[in-house]
Amino acid sequence: MKFSQAVKLAVLVGASLPTQAAAVPTPAASSALPTGTSVVSGLNVLAKAAGKLYFGSATDNPELTDTTYTSYLDSSAHFGQITPGNSLKWDATEPEPNTFTFTEGDQVTDLVKSNGQILRAHNLVWHEQLPDWVTANNYNATGLTAVIQNHIANVAGHYKGQPCMYAWDVVNEPLNDGDGSFRSDVFYDTLGSSYISIALTAAREADPNAKLYINDYNIESTGAKATAMQNLVKSLQADGVPIDGIGMESHFIVGEVPTTLVENFQAFAALGVEIAITELDIRMTLPETAALLEQQKQDFYTVVDACLQVSACKGITVWDWTDKYSWVPSTFSGQGAATPFDDNFVEKPAFDGIVEALKGQSFS
Ligand code: XIL
Repeated sequence: MKFSQAVKLAVLVGASLPTQAAAVPTPAASSALPTGTSVVSGLNVLAKAAGKLYFGSATDNPELTDTTYTSYLDSSAHFGQITPGNSLKWDATEPEPNTFTFTEGDQVTDLVKSNGQILRAHNLVWHEQLPDWVTANNYNATGLTAVIQNHIANVAGHYKGQPCMYAWDVVNEPLNDGDGSFRSDVFYDTLGSSYISIALTAAREADPNAKLYINDYNIESTGAKATAMQNLVKSLQADGVPIDGIGMESHFIVGEVPTTLVENFQAFAALGVEIAITELDIRMTLPETAALLEQQKQDFYTVVDACLQVSACKGITVWDWTDKYSWVPSTFSGQGAATPFDDNFVEKPAFDGIVEALKGQSFS
């Protein structure tokens, strides 16, 4: 039994607590770190009680061989929603022109269905994890339009009508940092910003029941990029292009969570779109310390509480729930520990921060 489970059990039966050293002899460095202590029926259960549709997580195919990991997913108590971290991206689904592979996407989707969870499908058009042929074939505007439409018709069409389907991230990360101008990539360079309406229109046709999102980072707080995204929403709406939601990725840094989340979320809600926190993690420069973990608890509280304060915010997705499978260490050198559970699946103080926010409590 893990120490955190021993504590919970002891609390539940009113027993006296074993000391951590006696329960699990762990290396000195990690035993000095605080863990989460909340005893709850599940994060998703709390999120739904708070009026949200879900609390969820990203997952990825290689992790699904880890049965301890999947045992946490199999009960939808914590995670009522899943986003495939990689297996629905263009390089995974259409690696060669008009050759579609759904094996990995189906593996995650089948898990979602058997667990009775909600699927956020991610993503259809993005400049990264794009197979070379899309750029190398030098399509003209007509040709690239057909390529986008064919990709979306097949991929969104494949998952159409699944009861688990909630939303597609149709366009991912279309805006530059800083001024929020359109990102230069094969889509923008060939079609201008019309590629966004082409993609959204094709997605609505392929799956009329899925919510259609644009997803991006550094739009979580007020500023030029958020304003640019709001202007994009307005122009799509003015043109009659379907747009249902905006995804706030929320890859944050401990101690640097923006202070204008609520104000900014409300500005999006005022446009009549829903929003979601789609890829939440809050990384730190390693090594972990008790102080960093305490700040991270506060930061997770702040983000979850912001979603709770805005009814248009439909749900919160962590970009995987355990440090064991977080993308952060391999992407941001020297950083990590960005999720609410540690490498050994033990709840961190951040878990308590999420719980307090979902319960509508003040931060303790
Ligand atoms: C990341 C995955 O988690 C990694 O496994 C992969 O190597 C790179 O992409 N924004 C997004 C996600 O929209 O698709 C990215 O996912 C993280 C940043």
